[in-house]
Amino acid sequence: MEDAYIIKGGNPVRGSVKLSGAKNASLKAIIASLLFEGEVVLENVPVINDVKELIHLVKLLGVKAEFKSENTLHIDTTNLNQNKVDLLHGSNIRVSFMLFAPLLYKFGQCEVPNPGGCRIGARPIDRIVSGMKSLGVEVEYISETGYYSAKMKRKPSGKFFFEKPSHTGTELLIMLSVFGKDQIIIENAALEPEIDELIKFLNEGGAKIQRQNSKIIISPVNKLVQKKPFSIISDRNEAVTFASLAIAAEGDIIVSPINHQSIINFINALKQIGAGVNIMSDTHIRFYYKSKVKSMNVSTSPHPGFMTDWQPNWAIIMTQANGSSIIHERVFENRFSYVEELRKLGADIEYVKLPVKDPFKYFYFNYDSLKKYNQAIKIIGPQKLHGGVMKISDLRAGATIAIAGLIAEGTSVVNGASIMERGYENFVKKVSAIGGEIKKV
Ligand code: EPU
Repeated sequence: MEDAYIIKGGNPVRGSVKLSGAKNASLKAIIASLLFEGEVVLENVPVINDVKELIHLVKLLGVKAEFKSENTLHIDTTNLNQNKVDLLHGSNIRVSFMLFAPLLYKFGQCEVPNPGGCRIGARPIDRIVSGMKSLGVEVEYISETGYYSAKMKRKPSGKFFFEKPSHTGTELLIMLSVFGKDQIIIENAALEPEIDELIKFLNEGGAKIQRQNSKIIISPVNKLVQKKPFSIISDRNEAVTFASLAIAAEGDIIVSPINHQSIINFINALKQIGAGVNIMSDTHIRFYYKSKVKSMNVSTSPHPGFMTDWQPNWAIIMTQANGSSIIHERVFENRFSYVEELRKLGADIEYVKLPVKDPFKYFYFNYDSLKKYNQAIKIIGPQKLHGGVMKISDLRAGATIAIAGLIAEGTSVVNGASIMERGYENFVKKVSAIGGEIKKV
């Protein structure tokens, strides 16, 4: 069966794009809904493959979850009656390990499959498991079954300090702490805005969670009940993708609704290379081509740094910039799957080794001195790209590959559209509406 985009490059892209709800906020809100009593209504939930996969997974646990109108999801956990997460569907979606929190509260024990490695790296959950143990949860990995078995014999309590921050790790520990024995403190917690959305969602339901920079303090409550529907924040990664398209394709695109602070580092980087950015209001940002952009090096780090999710998009801008640039990836160990694909279109990109003083500290993944890593690339711009046949193997790389097709001369075939659709809602429709020529086959 075909699962591809056919893209004819070179069309001008101009107009407005309404951003969808954020994947990385929706998935956690759906899981956190399982902590609530009664019905929970989530608005602005993107209908994307990852959300559909998670809905399927929670339905297998007995939860009712249904879109009653476009993007409005109703969740009812009254019949949550399974404490073992399905292996096949659980392994399809990484956040499935976050189901530890609601299942432990509901059943006192549960079994959750090892989320395992994925296309962007090994992605272990060692820090997260340590966090669970510090709060009093017993967790054991059973290698014969591929499942973690967890028991909560008493209400969670205590403190946890993340040696290196973890976005979903912070979120899981927050969820695990809402009905704790007494006040729980998470230190060196991750700072991503999606985490604050989760806190807001839980607090609106009665939780008592407070953030003081990288310290999160959770005071116990007895139950969560939703008082009004919760609306999912816009996807800032989608905003970055359309910003990158505007600059790389020499176009002019307004994205909304979005608060520019959530992507401020990307905006600052664009300004530094001479790209057009106009913060029109609290909700609207215009990205436009002014003149040939300059090259600029970036290295990724968790929020508020230059996000790892943005570097693949940055790479395509750099293929069109004057001069050479370096991208140094510090968060995941395998986030350059787009390099081979862009080379097929004529991009001049090579892997480079950059000296790092203390790689164990410098990288956010668990660095292993015996492994060989490709953590940096050098891009020589500007390069005229031509059409080709490419393959998407991870979500954010997918956006880069699609943009490459849209700016290249001629026609491209991009295989793996469904991977892109794990995180981008109505991508074909949105790109077509601003002038891009793309269809899904
Ligand atoms: N890590 C460990 N052990 C742990 C936890 C993390 O080694 O116990 C490593 C990870 O493998 C990674 C680094 O630490 O190398 C940072 O990982 P983190 O836990 O912060 O990332 P994540 O929670 O797995 C989320 C997003 C990612 C986003 C990062 C950074 C979701 C579902 N995923 O991942 O989004 O890139 O935070 O903000 O929220 C995407 O949307 O395409 C995506 C990958």
